[in-house]
Amino acid sequence: MNTNQLVIALTKGRILEEVLPLFEQANIVPSEDISKSRKLIFDTNLSNVKIMVIRGSDVPTYVEFGSADIGVVGKDLIMEHGSEGFYEPLDLKIAECRIMTAEPVKAPVRSGRLKVATKFTNIAKQYFAEQGQQIELIKLNGALELAPAMGLADSIVDIVDTGKTLKANGLEAKEVIAHISSRVIVNKASMKIKNSIIRDMLRKLNKAVDDKIQD
Ligand code: PRP
Repeated sequence: MNTNQLVIALTKGRILEEVLPLFEQANIVPSEDISKSRKLIFDTNLSNVKIMVIRGSDVPTYVEFGSADIGVVGKDLIMEHGSEGFYEPLDLKIAECRIMTAEPVKAPVRSGRLKVATKFTNIAKQYFAEQGQQIELIKLNGALELAPAMGLADSIVDIVDTGKTLKANGLEAKEVIAHISSRVIVNKASMKIKNSIIRDMLRKLNKAVDDKIQD
């Protein structure tokens, strides 16, 4: 392992627009405009640092197995993946939202097990187990808000930001399962072997987060 080379895995999509300015302040800038390219890995202004841009749900996997040293990913996807395989040293305090349960505003009286639709099956399983409630889990990959209206589920577990999507689909938020934001995660072996370069990067990113909050 080259102890001076670093691969950073960023989550594509909305988070990226908020992450790149923080990295820029930490003096890590992609060599080309990521949003205008179909490439998946990019050189940066630093000859020893590369940036990959992948789906959020794949970031924990790349970091856990060490194909990326560092990742930026939502806490929701860390919780869903499980966080034992890497360190989570920094909260970037961006892309903040909540993971919640939600039900129809006029929920019919129910009999039998609660049917819960979600793409966050591990989070939902753990949450309802902690509540002592037996559920029937229905795995969906998107548009969860449709499931109750279509009779597929009684309840959903999903990301809520403004709450507009719930409202537009006749649902209301119920319980907060967790507060979510984007986190920096680090491969455990990289943290030891590349300690000084990673520490330096974390310190600069931490300062960028603090400066942004003070603005
Ligand atoms: C998320 C989530 C909701 C929506 C909530 O979807 O699944 O649909 O945002 O936001 P709101 O409370 O501001 O309405 P996202 O757009 O991230 O896409 P996804 O369906 O791929 O998760």
